[in-house]
Amino acid sequence: MESQTASPISAELRRRFNSAARVLVLTGAGVSAESGVPTFRGGGNTAVWKGMPFDVISSAGMVERDLPAVWEWFDYRRDLLKAVKPNAAHVTIAGWQHRFPDLTLVTQNIDGLHQKAGSHDVIELHGNIWRARCVTCSMTSESNEHRACVGCGDHLRPDVVLFGELLPTGAYDRAADAALGAELCFVIGTSALVYPAANLPVMAKRAGAYVVEVNPEETPLSDFCDEVLTGKAGDILPLI
Ligand code: APR
Repeated sequence: MESQTASPISAELRRRFNSAARVLVLTGAGVSAESGVPTFRGGGNTAVWKGMPFDVISSAGMVERDLPAVWEWFDYRRDLLKAVKPNAAHVTIAGWQHRFPDLTLVTQNIDGLHQKAGSHDVIELHGNIWRARCVTCSMTSESNEHRACVGCGDHLRPDVVLFGELLPTGAYDRAADAALGAELCFVIGTSALVYPAANLPVMAKRAGAYVVEVNPEETPLSDFCDEVLTGKAGDILPLI
């Protein structure tokens, strides 16, 4: 008998993928893993830095206590990211923009790789590592060369959301609106442990969306999803 490899994509997902107009995609560190960016909770080299767990060095308190150390850590991470390129997962998601009339891409990543792959209007819930922001007047700067604000002269800090900080104004509201209107929701490469991002697929499903998780490992959301595609985003997404 001829052996056949079954596609991991169900007929139900294919049907919904072909007919959906409003789609929400939520991504986390796992979507960049195949580009060589270490995840946070995967025990990679960003999990602990100079003896400090990532949630200590990346915290609001650390900005107050030791801003130069925070910059040192973000300079180190930016250095890791300089040569990094988008992978098949970023490219596939960027292509979905042309396929669906209304696609909202929400990312927890700060690496800018979705934009590098061609995605636009990305909702960056946790900011962007390539930008800096004034600690006093909040003016942002795309350049990381200077450490003083051109507006008021005070210190700049990375324009990212640190532990103990609120999300940028408006970003979560836009994401929540998209979740409430979505017919199809993909949750890709996130451990789904950090709120409020992890709440978006829950809102989407309660509002009627079909929720699909793409992750090589189980997460607290897995049981809640309509479909779980177990594997790497770069392998799975091009198959859909
Ligand atoms: N494809 C898909 N998923 C993957 C891959 C891959 N190739 N490799 C790893 N993963 C999954 C892991 O199984 C894990 O569930 O990606 C997830 C990464 O989880 P985290 O490291 O916790 O990253 P994330 O969910 O993005 O973290 C959320 O926490 O530290 C903060 O602000 C930081 O934005 C980050 C937030």
